This record gives sequence, structure tokens and C-alpha cells, in this order.
Amino acid sequence: MADSDFHSIRVATLRGDNKIPFDIYVRVAGKYILYCRSGESFEGTRLERLRAKKLKKMFIKTDDQIPYDQYLEQSVEQAFDSKSRKTLEVRAQVIQGFQQATAEAFMENPQSESLYHHLSSTAQRFVEFVSREPDAAKPILAIENTDMSITHHSVNVAVLTILMALNSEFKNSTKLHLLGLGCMMHDIDLFHTWQDYGKPVDQLSPAELAAYKLHPKLGAGRLQNVGFIDQIVMNVITQHEEYIDGSGFPKGLVGKEIEPVVLLAAVANAYDRLVSFQRLSPKEAQKTLMIDKLGLYPLEHMKNLTSIIRSLNII
Ligand SMILES: [Fe+2]
Ligand SMILES: [Fe+2]
Repeated sequence: MADSDFHSIRVATLRGDNKIPFDIYVRVAGKYILYCRSGESFEGTRLERLRAKKLKKMFIKTDDQIPYDQYLEQSVEQAFDSKSRKTLEVRAQVIQGFQQATAEAFMENPQSESLYHHLSSTAQRFVEFVSREPDAAKPILAIENTDMSITHHSVNVAVLTILMALNSEFKNSTKLHLLGLGCMMHDIDLFHTWQDYGKPVDQLSPAELAAYKLHPKLGAGRLQNVGFIDQIVMNVITQHEEYIDGSGFPKGLVGKEIEPVVLLAAVANAYDRLVSFQRLSPKEAQKTLMIDKLGLYPLEHMKNLTSIIRSLNII
């Protein structure tokens, strides 16, 4: 069968336990191989095995586009419905996957205003979901980032940042959805890089470190010609690696020069980097954060993060 007979779909959209009403194929050496038959479900280890192979996309027959769209819409609507018979765990997994896939679609096409607005409206819904059902953060954060995915990390950063914001002086801000959106895009340059961002920063060679330190600036550069990015989103991208003592990057801004809400995202990012990329347990990551970043972030933000992950029984 020809390439035109197949349409790619994102692996992250297959989370959940609903039966899949279409056949799914993988492409191996240019050939499409049937991987999952219509009527089966895709939950658990099967999906994780594929992710471990860093497979982001699978394929459906072009004729199955409508059943796929319906399946996706139905599982997402069910996931957002707090009265659904599905458990919060399954609902949270579907929402995480949908959010990750939506972020991935925009990152691949950052010039697309319609994909930006789509990501923005899903971020708004995501923020409302997390505000309403904060316990969803636990199953979201429990999904292992097997393939060291930037978009998976981005959703983790978003959920932690939103919970921190809701547990702080920013809780009544009307712009939390933009903060969440910024988190989902914050490492847009790393999404496109071949750099080994999994390495601890203190183990990078001088050349690797210099390249790594460019990612916030290059990320903003990828978006500089489009006029539709909200300012908070841009600030999360450019300032999430800054420290309040001026020793961060790319600009070495000091505390008062950094947008206050971005510092929440910065703390969540530093923590999830340790979990997602350096494979530390949440407990080790929290301890490392408190020691290594002392004086680099406002102490109340680090305590805020600790109390969030403690209240979710993650540590
Ligand atoms: Fe970053
Ligand atoms: Fe990050």
C-alpha cells in the first residue's frame, strides 16, 4: 500500500482504556505493519514499550481518519467529565496524552497561528481541570517519561506550576492559563535539538554547556517573526533558566528583573528536569533541588513545590 493510504497519528493520543475502533500500523523499513487491531485497547505496558523506542507516531488507514477523530474527541470529553465512570487516574492519563500531543503538534509547526490558538484553548481547559481536580496531578506525574520527551516534561512543568500558583499569592490571577501555556512551550528549542539535554548540567563540556545555555534565546528566536505569542508565554520561554542572584542564563537577570510568575515555572522546571531527564526519584529530586538551588530561587517557591508534592503523596 502507498504512503497516501496512511495517515500519521500521535502515540500520546492513545492513552486510556477505550477500545480502539481502527487498526494501527507502525512503519518499519518503509513498510506499514499492523500493530494493533481494531477492537483492542492500548493501555499500559504496550504503549510504554513503544515510547521506550522513542516512537512518537503511528499510522492509521486514511479511510479511518473519521473514526480516529471521533475516538479522540470521545475519550477527551469523557476524561474532562468529572461525572464519567472512568477513574480519575485514567481520565488524567488521557488528558496528559492529549495535552502532550497538542504541544507536540505546535512545536513541530511553531509558525502556525491556528495550532497556537488550539494549544492555548487546550491549556485553558487543562488549567481549569487541574484547579478543579488537583488530585489529577498525581497520576499525571506518575507517568514515567520513558523517552525523555520534552513535551511530556512540559506537561509536568505545567501541572506543577499551576498547583504552585494556586497555592500562592497568584491564585486569583486571570492569566494562569497563559502561564500553563508558557510551560507547555518553554523548551521549544530543545524539542528541535540533538543536544543531550538528559545530561546533568554540571557534566556538560564547556562547548555543550555554551550550546545548552542558548536554548531559551533560540526558543524565542523560533517565534520572533510571528505576532501571535502572548507576552507571558514569551517570558516563560526566555526567563525560565534565570536565577534570582543573576547567575542563570541566558541574560543573567536578577530577581526583580524576572517576571514573578515565571519563577514558579522555573522551580517546577528545575525539579522536573531532575525527575524526567536525570531519572531521580521525586524524593531525591526534591532534596537535590533544596540543596543545589538554595539562594537561586525564592525560598517560598521551593517550599511551595515541596508542600504540593508532599500533599499529593509523591514524596
Ligand atoms: Fe529549559
Ligand atoms: Fe525544561
